[in-house]
Amino acid sequence: MLKIGVLASGRGSNFQAIIDEIERGKLNAKIEILIVDNPSAYAIQRAKNHGIPYLYINPKDFPTKEAFYEKIRDELLSRGVELVVLAGFMRIVKKPLLDAFPNRIMNIHPALLPSFPGLHGQKQAVDHGVKISGCTVHFVDEGVDTGPIIIQAAVPVYPDDTEETLSERILKLEHKIYPEAIRLFAEGRLVVEGRKVKILNYKPLNAWFTNPEVRE
Ligand code: GRF
Repeated sequence: MLKIGVLASGRGSNFQAIIDEIERGKLNAKIEILIVDNPSAYAIQRAKNHGIPYLYINPKDFPTKEAFYEKIRDELLSRGVELVVLAGFMRIVKKPLLDAFPNRIMNIHPALLPSFPGLHGQKQAVDHGVKISGCTVHFVDEGVDTGPIIIQAAVPVYPDDTEETLSERILKLEHKIYPEAIRLFAEGRLVVEGRKVKILNYKPLNAWFTNPEVRE
C-alpha cells in the first residue's frame, strides 16, 4: 500500500477528496501524516475527523527555508512516506525535500499549466478572458508550477464568471483528478521521461480529461 504524506496550509478540500477515495476503497494508499505550516488550517480538523496523524511545523522556528524543509523531509522519511502530496500548500518547495523525493512530490494547480502559474490561477484566467480553463496535477520541481504534467481537466469559462464561480467549477474537477493521479502513481503507471509523464494503459474518466495518448 502506497504511503502518502500530505502537506497543506488551509482548507484542505483536496486532502478530503483523497481521504474519501481511500475510505471508499478506490485508492490503495495510506496517509501516514498531514503536515501543516499554519496552526489554523482547517485541514487539521479533517485529519482529526479521520484519525490521521498530523504535525504543525512552524517555519519561523527555523533559521533558513532549507532547515524548515530538512525537518519536513525527516518527518516524512521517518514514517516511510513514498509520495508527498501538496494539497493547498502555499510555499515553494526547496532542495532538501525535492532531493529526497525526486518525481515523488505532486501538486495540483487551478489552471491549465503552463498558463497562469503562481497565485490566483482562476483570477488570472478570468482577467485574461480565456474561454477554457481547468486544473493540472504535476510533479514538483524547483520552479513555480513548472514540473512534469501528469493529468489535466478542463472546464468552460463563461462571460459572467468571477474568480469565485470559476474556482468552484474547477475545484469539483480537482477533487476528481487529484485522487486519480495518486492512483496512477500507486499502480506504478506513471513514467517520467524528461518533462513528459507517460501514463501506462490510461483510460480517461470522461471527456473532460485530456490525454494525448488516447485517441478516438
Ligand atoms: C486549490 O485550488 C488548489 O488547486 C490550490 O490550492 C487550493 C487548495 O484548496 N493549489 P484546498 O485547500 O485543497 O481546499
